[in-house]
Amino acid sequence: MSYQVNPALKINGKIKVPGDKSISHRSLILASIAEGESKIEGLLEAEDCLSTMGIMRDLGIKITKENTGNYTVQGRGLNGLQEADNVLDCGNSGTSMRLLAGLLSSQDFYSVLTGDHSLRNRPMQRIIGPLSNMGAEIWSRKDGLAPLSIKGQKLQSMNYELPVASAQLKSSILLAALKTESETVIVEPAVSRDHTERMLKGAGVDLEIKKDRIILKEAAERKLSPFNIKVPGDISSAAFFIAAGLLADSGSLLIKNVGINQTRSGFLEIVEAMNGKIELLNQKDEGGEPTADILVKASKLKGCEVSGEIIPRLIDEIPIISVMAVMAEGKTIIKDAEELRVKETDRIAAVVKEFKRLGIEIIENPDGMEITGVQKVKGGIEVESYHDHRIAMSLAVLALNTEKGITINGSEIISTSFPNFKELLAEVRG
Ligand code: S3P
Repeated sequence: MSYQVNPALKINGKIKVPGDKSISHRSLILASIAEGESKIEGLLEAEDCLSTMGIMRDLGIKITKENTGNYTVQGRGLNGLQEADNVLDCGNSGTSMRLLAGLLSSQDFYSVLTGDHSLRNRPMQRIIGPLSNMGAEIWSRKDGLAPLSIKGQKLQSMNYELPVASAQLKSSILLAALKTESETVIVEPAVSRDHTERMLKGAGVDLEIKKDRIILKEAAERKLSPFNIKVPGDISSAAFFIAAGLLADSGSLLIKNVGINQTRSGFLEIVEAMNGKIELLNQKDEGGEPTADILVKASKLKGCEVSGEIIPRLIDEIPIISVMAVMAEGKTIIKDAEELRVKETDRIAAVVKEFKRLGIEIIENPDGMEITGVQKVKGGIEVESYHDHRIAMSLAVLALNTEKGITINGSEIISTSFPNFKELLAEVRG
C-alpha cells in the first residue's frame, strides 16, 4: 500500500499512543500460565500481539475481549497448556517466536513455530543454543532458521552469559527455566528491557535482579499468581511523534501516558543530548512500570554520538534517530548497533539505501552509520518500507521535513505495531 506523506511545518496537539508491544506480549503469555483469571487493560491490538494471542488460544487458553484493548485471560498454570493441532504462526513477530520457543521447550508436547518470510530468515540459533544446553529438543532449518519444531522436555536450569544484550533471548531462557528446580543465573553484557523480570516478580516468582544478572531462585515448584495490568503507551511508538514534534518549525505536542522504564528510555536521553525540548510531566508508577506524559516542543537539534551501553535501551529507535540526525546541526555517529542488521529487516542497510535514494549523504558502517546535517531533502519520490514497520514510520516522519513529501510503498506493515499511526499523524499535523 502506498502512503503519501506531505511536508508539515507545524506539529501540534494531544495524543495517546497504543499500548507497549513488549509488555502486551508478556501480559498475554504470563497470564496464560498464571493460576486463574488475569485482566489486561490497554493491550496493543496490533498484528504482532494478535499473533501471540492467537497462539495462546491455539494452546488451549481462553482469552476474552471485553472491549477495545481490554481482555480477560483464563490462565491454566505452568502445566495447563495443551498441544496445538496445527503449526503456531508468529507472523512478523520475533518476540512471539523467541519467547514462546522458551516456554514450549519445557511443555510436555510437540509444537511447531513459524512466521512470515522476514521472521523465517531471522537468527534463532541464539535461542536454540542455550535452550538445547538446558535439554531442549529443537529442530530448525539450516543455520537455525524457522520453522522451529520443538519436542517439549524436562529441562535443567543453567548459568548463562548472554552473547548479545537481547531481551528476547533473556526472556526465552527465563520462560524455559520456570519449570526447572535449581537456580538459573543469566548475565547480560549490557542492560536490556526488563519487563519479563518485573512481571514475573509481580506474579510472585522468586527472582532477584542485580546490576548485570538475573537470578531465578531455586524452587521445588513455581506458580504464577494471576494479575491485573494496565499497559502503558509504547515509548517506541511515541518516539516517531516525539521526533515529528522536535523537527517541526513550530508547535507543541503532548503524548499522554508513555512508559519510561529506564531500560527502554535511551531515546529520551539522546533527545536531550541533541538539545531537543521535552518535558516529562505527571510521572507515576502504573502496574510496576514508570510512566509520564511527554511534552515535546519544536527544537533546533544538534548531532551527537549514540553508542555503547545505551544501544540496547534504544535499539528500536535507531531508524528514527537517523532521521533526526539528517535535520540536526553537525555530525551524528551511531555505532555498536550491529544488532540492527538482524531486525525485521537489515535496518542499517535499509536506512542507508532509502536515504541515498533521497539524496541524503550517509556513511554506512558495519555496526552503524554517520550522518552530517542539516541536509535539505527534496523528496517527491517513492521509497520502500522493506516490510519493516519502523522503517516505514521513520520515512513518514522524514517526509514531513521534505520539500515535496515522500510516498512510502509497503506501508501496510505499519499495522504490525501501530495500527492508528496514519490517523494520529494526520491529526497532529492539523
Ligand atoms: C523486544 C526486544 C528487542 C526489540 C524488539 C522487542 C522484546 O529485541 O528489538 O522489538 O519485546 O523483548 P532484542 O531483545 O532481540 O534486541
